[in-house]
Amino acid sequence: MLRFTLLKHYYTVSKIALILLFSAAFLIPSGKIFSQYQSRQKGTQKDLTLFDTKIDHIISEMSLEEKIAMLHGNGLFSSAGIKRLGIPEMKYTDGPFGIREEMEKNSWNSMKLTTDSATFFPTGSALAATWNTNLAYLLGTALGEEAKTRGKDILLGPAVNITRIPTGGRTFEYMSEDPLLNARLAVGYIKGVQDRGVAACVKHFALNNQETNRGRVNVIVDERTMREIYLSAFEAAVKEANVFAVMAAYNKIGGSWCSENENLLNQILKKEWGFKGLVVSDWGGTHSSVKAAMGGLDVEMGTLRAAFFGQSLLDSVKAGLVPIEVINDKVKRILRVRFSVKPVSESKPAGIVATPEHGEIAYRVASQSIVLLKNTDHLLPVDLIKVRKIAVIGDNAIHKMASGGFGAGVKTRYEITPLEGLKNKIGKKASLKFAQGYKPSFSQNRQLGGRRMLNRQIDSTLLKEAIGLARKSDIVFIFAGTNREYETESTDRSDFKLPYGQDELISAVATVNPRTVVVLVAASPLDLNNALNCSSAMLMSWFNGSEGGNAIADVLLGNVNPSGKLPFTFPASLADSPAFYLGTFPGDNNVEYKEGSLVGYRWFDTKKVKPLFPFGFGISYTEFSYNGLKTDKIKYNSDENIQISVVLENTGKRKGDEVVQLYVHRLNSKIEWPDKELKGFSRVSLNPGESKKITMTLPISQLRYWDTKIHDWRLEGGTIQIMIGSSSSDIRVVKSIDI
Ligand code: BGC
Repeated sequence: MLRFTLLKHYYTVSKIALILLFSAAFLIPSGKIFSQYQSRQKGTQKDLTLFDTKIDHIISEMSLEEKIAMLHGNGLFSSAGIKRLGIPEMKYTDGPFGIREEMEKNSWNSMKLTTDSATFFPTGSALAATWNTNLAYLLGTALGEEAKTRGKDILLGPAVNITRIPTGGRTFEYMSEDPLLNARLAVGYIKGVQDRGVAACVKHFALNNQETNRGRVNVIVDERTMREIYLSAFEAAVKEANVFAVMAAYNKIGGSWCSENENLLNQILKKEWGFKGLVVSDWGGTHSSVKAAMGGLDVEMGTLRAAFFGQSLLDSVKAGLVPIEVINDKVKRILRVRFSVKPVSESKPAGIVATPEHGEIAYRVASQSIVLLKNTDHLLPVDLIKVRKIAVIGDNAIHKMASGGFGAGVKTRYEITPLEGLKNKIGKKASLKFAQGYKPSFSQNRQLGGRRMLNRQIDSTLLKEAIGLARKSDIVFIFAGTNREYETESTDRSDFKLPYGQDELISAVATVNPRTVVVLVAASPLDLNNALNCSSAMLMSWFNGSEGGNAIADVLLGNVNPSGKLPFTFPASLADSPAFYLGTFPGDNNVEYKEGSLVGYRWFDTKKVKPLFPFGFGISYTEFSYNGLKTDKIKYNSDENIQISVVLENTGKRKGDEVVQLYVHRLNSKIEWPDKELKGFSRVSLNPGESKKITMTLPISQLRYWDTKIHDWRLEGGTIQIMIGSSSSDIRVVKSIDI
């Protein structure tokens, strides 16, 4: 009680101090107030509007030219401040999984510094596979700290577009096919970044679900699907995490570019959700001056010479085509962020980036993200007393994933590959031999204008060597999958088969050694039919950051019990997945989301199509049982919460984590619903034999749907089945309630 009272006083006193400081602001020239303010600022100021009065005063002192200068990049990753008033420029950095290396101010050329290495954190789909919101927060804090140390104000992440197609080029950066998992992780991540004094920028708003034609494609989607599936994480980012910046996507929605989309930016984001921060274009994603200015874009980035928000916007204002109030509002939004994020002084020596603590966070995410897909006869974990000779096969055992392909990467201070991780952990306890097995290669196709084509052929010399090694070994680990050259921004994969002839390699190796474990280092769904048939055990290990190699070695050796769960469905065939089945990908100038809200498991469950691995799937070295599902009542009103409890028991012999998943299924609804929808989850750690009562709260408001007649959320009464299980296809206990 005493602690609480003291804490309350502390907050009241700090609040008064801030108010006094900003009231005093009017007596001090604007130039000085900013620097006075900075010296007191820790973390980010959570209420973006706190300084609005002062900001209005500053705006009233600015010339139109000064205002326009703030609305576009003055370099590829910076936008101007107001020198005369002592307000520094804004510095942006990619991106979602690590702070990008420094580039020349006006080009994409590296500055070739030796001081800009950073931690490579597990990418979006790896983070999503942890189903751990606390870890998302921790990862956010580490990213925030590294961004700050490098003098950045705005971190261009998280990337929360829904995984609509299994072949999406940026699936590795994105998180999930499910809006709730996406939203919960995004909220944790953003809070972490912003608690460390850096603005997060949630991207790409919205419906940038394919790379093919992303610069021209117009997405046609019904209003309900857009709200329930595709906008959900953005809404949570604004309303729950108070995100400071939003990046408008490259594509069009309803015929209008996202960067000038009145409905998306002005009506939904700013008016309905109450977003007070700034909207920045994706790099080079602005297409007009007047329309974009009126449509809600605040900052044009990525276009050298400010094609639209420079001279052309200035002329448009002078010609009366854009009212000055619209410009003032943009400047105000930028200044809100500028005042809330303490700038790093240019003269301050760089602190330490990529600390051991950040390596530890990267390790924790990686080790909780690894998904065990198959484990015949408990082949894993490897018992080093019995296993003497280990074969490590596959280029991905030595391939680094911090950079490659097109788009953001990390010049990482270090990256432990799987082979290094195994060497670190095994030492002299067993013999470890490596064969590359396949070469990740592409060829130039002259007929296609020199386009890079994927090589599907296996290198016969490497294949022979791998078979020879496998034959003489007690166990084989094949590190297969993709890499950053293959999964990349700006192109989608042409199919989801394992590239470079790896299926042939896996079959040949498994024929000579049935004790073959396939470890997939990849970040999106793959065609694993052959690999699954051939292997005795299989794991998914993602683009897993600086510590990825140590984490996978610990899982293989049993130092860590795998606990990751798939954040998206792995279809048995590409043709089974909704956009391919309906022929609605990639579209040309238009892409119509004909599947509506039946994305990912929502489609597979509703249409009764069996996937290879369902959403939420992942096994463990131990087993869990679910019992005693209870709700606090059986009938609820619209403003109530359902209190749910279930008893989880670790019935196996090892300590392990389980992700308890809560789905709902509607009985006798008059409205169309997916067969089931994720409505909650909880990661639980249990010792062998231990059981725990897990409680979850489901607000009835979360069961509403978007009613296109009233353009608002609406609750439908009726009976709802509460389903708890270990994956979307493995429901263990069910109970019905009424609304
Ligand atoms: C990407 C963004 C990224 C920006 C700056 C664009 O191509 O879509 O996600 O933040 O480049 O690198």
